[in-house]
Order: sequence, then C-alpha cells, then structure tokens
Amino acid sequence: MADTTPTEAVRAYEADAVAALSAASDADALEQVRITFLGKKKGRLKDLQGLMKSVPNEEKRAFGQAFNEVKNRVEGLLNDRKAELEKPAAALDAFDITLPGVPLRVGSRHPVSQTIAEFKEIMARFGFAAVEGPEIEDERHNFEALNIPDSHPARDPLDNFYIAAAGITAGEGDNPLLLRSQTSTVQIRMMESQPPPVRIVSLGRVYRPDSIDATHHCMFHQMEGLMVGPGVTMANLKTVLSQFAKAYLGDDVTIRFRPSFFPFTEPSVEVDLHWPGMQGDYPWLELGGAGMVDPAVLQAVGYDPEEVTGFAFGLGIERFAMFRYGITDIRRLTENDVRFLRQF
Ligand code: FA5
Repeated sequence: MADTTPTEAVRAYEADAVAALSAASDADALEQVRITFLGKKKGRLKDLQGLMKSVPNEEKRAFGQAFNEVKNRVEGLLNDRKAELEKPAAALDAFDITLPGVPLRVGSRHPVSQTIAEFKEIMARFGFAAVEGPEIEDERHNFEALNIPDSHPARDPLDNFYIAAAGITAGEGDNPLLLRSQTSTVQIRMMESQPPPVRIVSLGRVYRPDSIDATHHCMFHQMEGLMVGPGVTMANLKTVLSQFAKAYLGDDVTIRFRPSFFPFTEPSVEVDLHWPGMQGDYPWLELGGAGMVDPAVLQAVGYDPEEVTGFAFGLGIERFAMFRYGITDIRRLTENDVRFLRQF
C-alpha cells in the first residue's frame, strides 16, 4: 500500500467492493460485504477516509469528490444486490421485460356454428323465426306424428340411437326415447303448440348410426323449415329455397327439385343445387328433402287441411358449409384440429 496513491486506493476499493457484492450469494454474505466496505466504525471505507490527511491541500477537493462518488455507487450497488437476493428465484428467470412478447391468437367460432348463425340471419329476413326442439325425442314426434308407421324401415332399432340408459329408459307409456334422427320433429312440436299461421326454422343436431365417410357422419346438423297458412304452395317453397341458396352462395346458384318420397309430405322432392363452377358427370349437390306437408299430418296436430296448406324442408347444414368453403371431408368438422379450424 505504501506506494499506492490515494486516488489509486479509491479505485481499488471500488473494484474490490463491486466484485465482493456480485459474489455475495445470500443475505449473510452481503451483510459481511457491507461491514467490510461500508462499515461506519472500521473497515475499508474508514481506511480510505483516513487517506485524506496525506492528500496535498490542492487535491483534497478532487479526492473528496471521488471518495463520495465511489461511496454512493457502492451503497447503490449494495441496495440493488439486496433487492435481487430477496426476489423469489422463479421470478428472476420468469420475467424479462426486454424479451419480445408472445402474440395472443384470437379464436373464432366453429365453421358449423358460423353457418348456423348465417342461416338463421338469412331466414329471419324472409320472416322465419328460429325455434329449438329437444335432441332427445320420443317415437311419437320422431315417427308417428310424421306419418312413419311402425313397420317403416326408418324405425328399425339398428337405424336409430334408441336410449336405454339407466334413468331414461323410455318416454311415457309405449313411447320410447331416442336421439332424434331428423329436425322434422320440431315441425310437429310447433304445430302442436300454436295455431296457424306458422313460419319457423329450427337448426340443430341430429343422430343416425350411418357409416362415417367423407360425406356422412353419425352426428350432423339440419335446418328444418316450415310454413303453414292459407294458400301456401309448392311455388312458395321453391322461391324460399332458391332465394335462400342465392343469399348464402351468390346469385349464380340454381336449385332444382327431383320427385322423391317422404311419409310426411305429399308431393315430396329432393332439393339439388348447381353452381356454374361445378363440373363432372353429375354437377348437382343434394342438399335435402322437402315437400308439401301431408294433410294427414296437419289433421293429426289439429289443423284443418281444408283451411291451410304448408310446405316443409330439411337441409343438411354440413353439406352446404362444405360446398361454400371447399371442404372435401365432413370428418374435418369434428376432429377439432386447430390448424383446420383457424382458417375460418
Ligand atoms: C330428412 O331428414 C327429412 N327430414 C327432410 C325433410 C324435411 C323432407 C321436411 C321433407 C320435409 P334426409 O334423410 O334426406 O331427409 O336428410 C336430409 C339431408 O341431411 C340430406 O340431404 C343430407 O344433406 C343430410 N344428411 C343426411 N344424412 C347425413 C349424414 N349421415 N351426414 C351428413 N349429412 C347427412
């Protein structure tokens, strides 16, 4: 120390204090460093102060300034280190405010939900109110009231999901419960609960034990439409479906009716859709069934078929949405793969 100048001693003190502070790994070690470098009674700060005597008068001011600066810096570093050691270890690694943030991905509604919302909105513009019906139905609403007799193949237990679980074995009396196989059940429920005129749509899930492939699922969605009132005709049905298809897919879309059979409509049709971009041997897409509500069905719900007539239709919602979005496999819609869902 003999040939060290007071200024050099200040620098050495500073360097040693900084090294000791960063080496202190807990509160006790830090306290030792404090006593050694900043202790009031003895210690290296006191020694440094004692050097003032040997500093020539003209340099005393500069030395005093350097001394104070270093003392303040070491005190500051001591406080910083103390705060750092008091932080929980996890917080030390967990949060670095200088790192770029992780962008939040905003989710979106499922394409089938989006389609349902859009269908409801379009049909509301045509004056059709959206109503709901139960997914667990009884045979009466799913078949009998729709003119589907006991012997009809559509009632085969192998073609339906009958419910035989504990607690819900059957409906009232001889009226077993099943997962509805079509939304046409809601037609019956609506007509039972209100007098004509009726103008409703009902959109929801239906269940069938079909083999699953690119265009069939065991759970899918239908939109049922029903309009009953004086003088409702097949022409009204065609206009509503044609306007609906144009509103959803564009003005260049056409629909056609093919004769068909459903027990609850007479006459009955299949509804196909054609769009100019469609090519191939059969440039039509089958969308659903429709027809004029059978007078026997009207009568069974207490309507007078001499007074009112009505049309009904049932469309496959997935088929429509697949066509619009270019989805080639219905299974994509239930796989919950976010890479697929993110595109909508
Ligand atoms: C019916 O379900 C009748 N209730 C439709 C109806 C309503 C006729 C009112 C008359 C009056 P269908 O079984 O054809 O009809 O089914 C209607 C549509 O549902 C089909 O055209 C198709 O688009 C869709 N669909 C049927 N089965 C499946 C399935 N397994 N997977 C996906 N979509 C299906």
